[in-house]
Amino acid sequence: MDIPRLHPDTIEQVRQRADIVDVVSEHVVLRKLGKDFTGLCPFHDDKSPSFTVSPSKQFYYCFSCGAGGNAIKFLMELGKHSFSEVVLDLAKRYQVSVQTLEPEQRQELQRQISVREQLHEILALTARFFEHALNQPQGKAALEYLTAKRKLSTTTIQQFQLGYAPAGWETLFGYLVEQKHYPVALVERAGLIVPRKGATGSYYDRFRDRLMIPIHDLQGRVVGFGGRSLGDEQPKYLNSPETELFDKGNILFALDKARAAIAKQDQAVVVEGYFDVIALHSAGITNVVASMGTALSLAQVRQLLRYTESKRIVFNFDADRAGTQAAERAIGEVAALAYQGEVQLRILNIPTGKDPDEFLQTNTPADYQQLLDESPLWLDWQIQQAIAGQDLNQADQFQQVVQQIVDLLADVTNANTRTHYIGRCAEILSRKDGRLVPLLAENLLVQVRRKRRPSAKNISGDSSFQSIPNEFLITTEAVLLRVYLHYPEYRQAVITALEERDLQFSFSHHRFLWRQILKLQDDLQEKDKHSEDQSYKSISTSESIVTQPNLISFLRDLCTVFPKEMEQVYHLFELDEKTRLDIVRVPLIIRSTVACIERTMCDNRYRDLLQQWKETDCSMNPERAKEYSQKIYAEKKRIEELDQQQRWTKLEDLIQTPSLGKIEI
Ligand code: UTP
Ligand code: MN
Repeated sequence: MDIPRLHPDTIEQVRQRADIVDVVSEHVVLRKLGKDFTGLCPFHDDKSPSFTVSPSKQFYYCFSCGAGGNAIKFLMELGKHSFSEVVLDLAKRYQVSVQTLEPEQRQELQRQISVREQLHEILALTARFFEHALNQPQGKAALEYLTAKRKLSTTTIQQFQLGYAPAGWETLFGYLVEQKHYPVALVERAGLIVPRKGATGSYYDRFRDRLMIPIHDLQGRVVGFGGRSLGDEQPKYLNSPETELFDKGNILFALDKARAAIAKQDQAVVVEGYFDVIALHSAGITNVVASMGTALSLAQVRQLLRYTESKRIVFNFDADRAGTQAAERAIGEVAALAYQGEVQLRILNIPTGKDPDEFLQTNTPADYQQLLDESPLWLDWQIQQAIAGQDLNQADQFQQVVQQIVDLLADVTNANTRTHYIGRCAEILSRKDGRLVPLLAENLLVQVRRKRRPSAKNISGDSSFQSIPNEFLITTEAVLLRVYLHYPEYRQAVITALEERDLQFSFSHHRFLWRQILKLQDDLQEKDKHSEDQSYKSISTSESIVTQPNLISFLRDLCTVFPKEMEQVYHLFELDEKTRLDIVRVPLIIRSTVACIERTMCDNRYRDLLQQWKETDCSMNPERAKEYSQKIYAEKKRIEELDQQQRWTKLEDLIQTPSLGKIEI
């Protein structure tokens, strides 16, 4: 398209009127953050919001990729449009009258604008033509279909401008071209007539003997049609082709009628079919739209999100095609936004496998509203799907469910949300056996962390080290606790080694045991203090408490107080052929196990910090970002140090535990 040179006044006026927030929010989901807005950058693969828009400066900037500029620059970069194309588009949108430098070119421009206007006119007229036909004798069957079969009122039929396309081959053609004198080419561009094969200049009506559902844009103008067959003719629905006005990926059926209710209820409902929308609206549930029989596009979601402040979308998905993969396909690009916490996506499945229209034939609007209110969040729904029909008592099915849950949770960006779900899933997997919950949660946490690692690697560009395998770590911690329990002369060495570096056990049952040991020793010391003469109190006393030979029997007494917790560590109180240690090697074993625990703690801190750093808006919090990067560097250095010493790799030789596989570090 040849674009005429624009008058500088026009450019200036567009600059002044086009609001950056308005323009950007059509393409990016923005969230208010102080005076500015923030969102995911559309110019690079942004995982956390690094894109900011400043209304006061009328400027956008991405702190990750450096993209920045005003509203015009934004649209140019986004759509690879020229400067003049963008200015022209904005001029139309903000009703700035366009002046060009040469008068002939101005005419050309007017002609282009008027083509769209004429297309709108043709489509509006066509909708009225179909509406009229519905009330003629020829439309009797169609009208009966609407009132008797679909049980729609005259008000609803009028509200949705439903109509009937007559059965002849050239009825609409005759009306628009012969009677109203619209150019054939324009009627074709409106998607209403189709050229006959082999006969140039000859056309037939696209829609014949169909119930017609007009599709409107946001301004309520007709841009296309869906036509339903009244009998068994295929396809069931014939839709307008893509035209200059009808962009299927960009339009939502009934958004013009639903947007006020979406804003008011702060929630949008997406259903699959035209008649589902119509039935719900006529039942008084009006915050409902449908996509055009395709997966929801990002552009469609963003349109919806402009009206719901809390970004709440409920997807009413046909239950007969249930299954996470099918749902994911239909939900399209909303899924990614949901994982990033940009959208609060819920899933509504009507239990009987009906669609909303069928459901309302036998149920009340209140019944539907209840289903809406109870609809689970997308993640909960997927977890439900993963568990459904699986027998958790069967090892293979249990493992499969765990794997699916790990895959799901690894995609959740927000750390708090992840923690919450790990707890929830551990509870589900425990099958009401409370004792198992901490261990299962621990296990999920480690697996999810491991699964998430590739993304952490990407940011730092660092793949130089791996985590210590979980099975290895649990054995290591157990060995250290055994040393403590069964080799009293080395207890002080263990305490010192752990306290020196502020180390903690990774597994909660080990942490529990360690707490009990320390508490017991404190209690003993207290008793000791009171029973002895003050002057007698000395270091040697506390040493004798640390080396207390009866420690294990004191701990055994706790089994009645904490039966659940003690059950998980009880085996450590025994020493048998397999677990007995060579006394000469104990100091070495302590060093190896402690190094292993420290390595794991550094590793976890490193990955958490990396994640937090990733989730921090470096522009908003430069200090925080700096602090993170310093800490990340410190952890990394320590890991490298420990890796060089490779102390724990010797552990395998030090303890003869056959179950301990080859360690891969
Ligand atoms: P469905 O086939 O799920 O049917 O189509 P429905 O909406 O329940 O249709 P009714 O109740 O039998 O009339 C869902 C949506 O998919 C698109 C339409 O947008 C439809 O509303 N579709 C379906 C098509 O575009 N073409 C088709 O042939 C079928
Ligand atoms: Mn239906």
